[in-house]
Amino acid sequence: MPHITAFARNQWYVAAYSHEVGRELLGRTILGETLVLYRTEEDGTPVVLHDRCVHRRYPLSEAPTRLDGDRVVCGYHGFTYDTTGECVYVPGQKRIPRTARVASYPVVEQDSLIWVWIGDPALADPRSIPRARHLDSPGWVTVRGMEPIDCDYGLLVDNLLDLSHETYLHGGYIGTPEVAERPITTEVDEGAGIVRVSRHMDDAECPPFYATSTGIEGRITRWQDIEYHAPCLYLLHSRVAPIGVVPEPDGSDPNGFHTEITYAITPSGDGKVYDFWAVSRDWATDDDKVTEFLRGNNHTVVMQDVTALNLMQKTLGTERTGYQELSINIDMGGLAARRILARLVEEGAKPTEKVQ
Ligand code: FES
Ligand SMILES: [Fe+2]
Repeated sequence: MPHITAFARNQWYVAAYSHEVGRELLGRTILGETLVLYRTEEDGTPVVLHDRCVHRRYPLSEAPTRLDGDRVVCGYHGFTYDTTGECVYVPGQKRIPRTARVASYPVVEQDSLIWVWIGDPALADPRSIPRARHLDSPGWVTVRGMEPIDCDYGLLVDNLLDLSHETYLHGGYIGTPEVAERPITTEVDEGAGIVRVSRHMDDAECPPFYATSTGIEGRITRWQDIEYHAPCLYLLHSRVAPIGVVPEPDGSDPNGFHTEITYAITPSGDGKVYDFWAVSRDWATDDDKVTEFLRGNNHTVVMQDVTALNLMQKTLGTERTGYQELSINIDMGGLAARRILARLVEEGAKPTEKVQ
């Protein structure tokens, strides 16, 4: 039996970055549902519709489908949809069949992310979307990208919840011996669906990622505080500072370097996941050299993960009979995340009462 992490419906997922959605039709697949995204002409509101024409299933995200004002004109025979997914024109006849519509999805643009609700629209509550304010706040500079990976999204969750792999997979970039050696503390907020994993290293080598970008020479204090909001948003609060530099009693930290590393883990289909990644900093914000260094370096790091996860996906289902996965202390966070995801999957599968 191949290992497949089930999808959690009735949840918000990041479908795109704000800058990716415009007046071109953008196709994305989330939890196996095909979506087409665009913005209205008038005020730029993002619109998300099902990406299959009701007539003969032509993908609306594909040319020659086009926008006519805020309406989507199917590129096959011209069925035309408004922003609610209702069909407002069919060719060759006046009467528009009552069932001529495509589904529209609840969508929220927040923190430079386009969040889409996959599930029963009546249950969509925008207030439950976790925040990532640093992605879109004055005083912060962000580099970002998105890599599709051919792997079960559970493998990416495992990867991000256990950073001890930095030492081996990302040596020479963000990994140093201390990351694998120092123990973690794990905290789980079952109700809120949040897993926190912390590793505070008080005397560590400074990896090239931070040595080059901050200019710190010598050993550092390095904190990694993960906050995973299942199922989609992953925040890594990173602090590095020269040894001996501690935050002020009031919490301010003028000589520490704070970096926010954000991931959105969006399951696309079986064995496919979108890996949205971003690195935000509030230091050296006008230094373009630092920006470009972090962009290139982090992209390399992300691709190291992508390569490893693509490989691991191929090993799934090829285990010897009787193989038992083995977990150790470093896996506490990942195991907690799996438990929460399993609960969300179960809750999302329950039939929901329709709001009248
Ligand atoms: S498939 Fe879209 S109009 Fe025919
Ligand atoms: Fe990694």
